[in-house]
Amino acid sequence: MANHQPLSVLFVCLGNICRSPTAHGVFAHMVNRAGLADVIHVESAGTGWWHVGSAPDPRTCAAAALRGYDLTAQRARQVSVDDFDTFDLVLAMDRKNLAELRQLRARHGNRGALPELFLEAFGERPGPVEVPDPYYGGDDGFDHVLDLVEVASRNLLSHLQKTRLS
Ligand code: 4NP
Repeated sequence: MANHQPLSVLFVCLGNICRSPTAHGVFAHMVNRAGLADVIHVESAGTGWWHVGSAPDPRTCAAAALRGYDLTAQRARQVSVDDFDTFDLVLAMDRKNLAELRQLRARHGNRGALPELFLEAFGERPGPVEVPDPYYGGDDGFDHVLDLVEVASRNLLSHLQKTRLS
């Protein structure tokens, strides 16, 4: 999908129903509050196809809602090679998804944005470089995703404000 804002960010996980929708919702919320919705375009996608068209996992939505983020309008989609041309930043939630993204990009001539690990680039240091998959765990896993994503989203926004928007 083409986007028209000057800057664009794509968050990527496996299913696009837990981690990347959380990052999408949290970062878009911060972008809106900063008055930058016309400047920074935000989306998310999954490397897998199983949940395409689905809303985020109810546990993801519930944990996010407790912190004031509404993820319910999001629908999962699978990442496509065109995303590397469309997005300035492609941010993976873990190493496995980063490897999938690198392979997809390599199969299509290594064009466009270089995918990075979201937490390696913008997470708290010292700290984890992967957002753990909460899908098969308990409710505290979804809260932990939010903790990691909130810090990295704040850092990402201030990085973009300093380096691209000043
Ligand atoms: P996500 O979590 O990658 O953070 O959206 C998962 C969602 C679904 C599955 C695995 C991880 N699954 O196996 O269906």
